[in-house]
Amino acid sequence: MKEPDRASLFDNWAEWYDRSVHDPAFPLSGYERVLDEIVTAACVKKGMSVLDLGVGTGNLASRFAELGCDLLGVDFSAGMLAKARERLPDARLVQADLRGEWPAELERRFDRIVSGYVFHEFPVTTKAHLIHRLVQGHLADGGYIIIGDVSFETHAARESAHERWLDRWDEEEEYWAADEATEILQPLGLKVTYQQVSICGGVFVIKPPELNGWNNRRQSAKMRNPSKR
Ligand SMILES: C[S@@+](CC[C@H](N)C(=O)[O-])C[C@H]1O[C@@H](n2cnc3c(N)ncnc32)[C@H](O)[C@@H]1O
Repeated sequence: MKEPDRASLFDNWAEWYDRSVHDPAFPLSGYERVLDEIVTAACVKKGMSVLDLGVGTGNLASRFAELGCDLLGVDFSAGMLAKARERLPDARLVQADLRGEWPAELERRFDRIVSGYVFHEFPVTTKAHLIHRLVQGHLADGGYIIIGDVSFETHAARESAHERWLDRWDEEEEYWAADEATEILQPLGLKVTYQQVSICGGVFVIKPPELNGWNNRRQSAKMRNPSKR
């Protein structure tokens, strides 16, 4: 786990965040295309409920708001949430740490759960734990998860990117390798697809067993208790 006041780092970043995302170099190269791909993969219809994890200044959330979705954004940074509120005055926004207790507003199910450039904050086991929690208790029937982030197809591709961008690589961050994530998530019965969108950004679509047509008790049991393989 990162230092406890990690949120204050994002509070400080909030003021210039929207300018910084247009840096064409690693790690945000292709940022807008990654967010666009999340929206495309979500295939939402007007009125669908969407939970945006790590809503930040609202760059991803505003795309779903424009499509008429019923949006809930969560973030642990008061500074980021203040910026999102200016931009999305009608959206519901709540302050919470995704790693901790969740407020009552989040204790419900959503048609889509989305996230842009947040999960690299967490080690792969925390990523898997969080995704498992979301699938278990927060997806409506037919719902699924779409996550865009700094990511690479394989562990090897991430290693070469590490060497290539050594001077810009944040050693505290846990950039995704899609093969590694799939290896952890598939045994939980989840169907994971990954699309590389830019040189260092990609999008995961994560669907629960029901949407895979796997109507068998074994997969459902694994979902209830992932330690029993
Ligand atoms: C790089 S920004 C991405 C913001 C937005 N999703 C976007 O695509 O522009 C990461 C966001 O995740 C939030 N965040 C990071 N770790 C978090 C945690 N443990 N719980 C809640 N929010 C978190 C930060 O405060 C920040 O707003």
